[in-house]
Amino acid sequence: MKNNIAILGAGWGDEGKGKIVDLLVANADGVFRFNGGANAGHTLWVDGHKYVTHLLPSGVLYKDVKLALGQGMVIDPIELVNEIESFEIQGIDFTNRLYIDPAVHIVLPRHKIEDGDKEDAAGDKKLGTTKRGIGPCYGDKHRYAGLRLIDFFRREDIVDRMIKENLSAEFMSAIIRLAIYRHDVSLLAYQMNDRGQPVVFEGAQAALLDIDHGQYPHVSSSSAIAGGICTGIGISPHTIGQLVGVVKAYATKVGAGKMTTEITGDLCEHIRKVGGEYGATTGRPRRIGWLDLPTLHYAQRINGFTSLALTKLDCLRGIDPLRICFTYKDAKSNKRMLFSPPADTTDYSKLEPVYHDFPGFDEDISGARKFEDLPETLQNYCNFIQQVGAPIDLIGVGPNRDQIIVRKDLWK
Ligand code: IMP
Repeated sequence: MKNNIAILGAGWGDEGKGKIVDLLVANADGVFRFNGGANAGHTLWVDGHKYVTHLLPSGVLYKDVKLALGQGMVIDPIELVNEIESFEIQGIDFTNRLYIDPAVHIVLPRHKIEDGDKEDAAGDKKLGTTKRGIGPCYGDKHRYAGLRLIDFFRREDIVDRMIKENLSAEFMSAIIRLAIYRHDVSLLAYQMNDRGQPVVFEGAQAALLDIDHGQYPHVSSSSAIAGGICTGIGISPHTIGQLVGVVKAYATKVGAGKMTTEITGDLCEHIRKVGGEYGATTGRPRRIGWLDLPTLHYAQRINGFTSLALTKLDCLRGIDPLRICFTYKDAKSNKRMLFSPPADTTDYSKLEPVYHDFPGFDEDISGARKFEDLPETLQNYCNFIQQVGAPIDLIGVGPNRDQIIVRKDLWK
């Protein structure tokens, strides 16, 4: 048994990480989130029911699995309590299984107001944030002006801060409700690892949204790559184990910033509809593009994925041809680029995507459970993607929990 698997977004988020976490948590004793906040939205389909989590880890439906929120996250207490209660009424119990690091920073009402106001004032220069107060909260953390969960339980501080922050009774009762879940998450991870209990590290957002290595300024404010697991929980890199990069069979993005392979018009509408490409958090229609290997190659380089999980392959049915961008060409110099430039330091308008085309397919692949069950063109499509340097070990062929091809049992 190999201990510990990390699941990370390899694109601009919304790759379908929730489903992969949900699959792998079946064999784990714990699932740890390490970054982001309620800007994330993970959708799970189980027995025809849709579940969406924003702050709780995607393993929430496994009743015996420990759920941990690391200090690298930012938590909106009212959101989290609502989320907990929405699962409690469905019979999910959180006693002795939910752990929130006391050092986690709290999203305050003014963070959300600042986020919204800034976006509304930015006109056509909007970043397209989720308006969940994420950037201002991390901003306060970094300028030593934040409030951590623990700070609310220091009697000498609380009255002063409450008055200053003008916190509502609803907000304070949510904080008090969360008190019972306070626990040193770094220590929990250490102890579970020490006992040989396997855990999953669940990433929110993704490589190209990473604060340091994403396409700044069109990024989120946390560390969404493998390195962020260590800082966001407080563990050694040696504890991580395997790294699964989740990549969607086509590209999507919300918010502003360059998307070199963007598709517009009827085909965009078609994929958006078939793939249900609307933000799980904001409901915004997502931008659609062809799979972009220079960005995936870059994500692979900075994360070192040991496996890829390809999701939503079924959504490409009926599209002919299927295209994958395998390099960018600089229109001026004719120079080719294998890796996408990480930050907005490049004039993307000069970069042209160069595509490899594959014939389309008309078969319903949702029943495929082996790689060989896929039409030949999709096998070639998958093999082509692996040139970035990691095998595709999991392939999603439908929204349900069981609609997946497992080419390798990652726990063995
Ligand atoms: P923020 O995280 O709300 O500050 O938004 C910053 C950027 O990250 C925006 O472009 C958001 O659309 C994007 N973003 C944040 N979280 C997610 C996510 O879970 N999926 C996709 N995009 C996200």
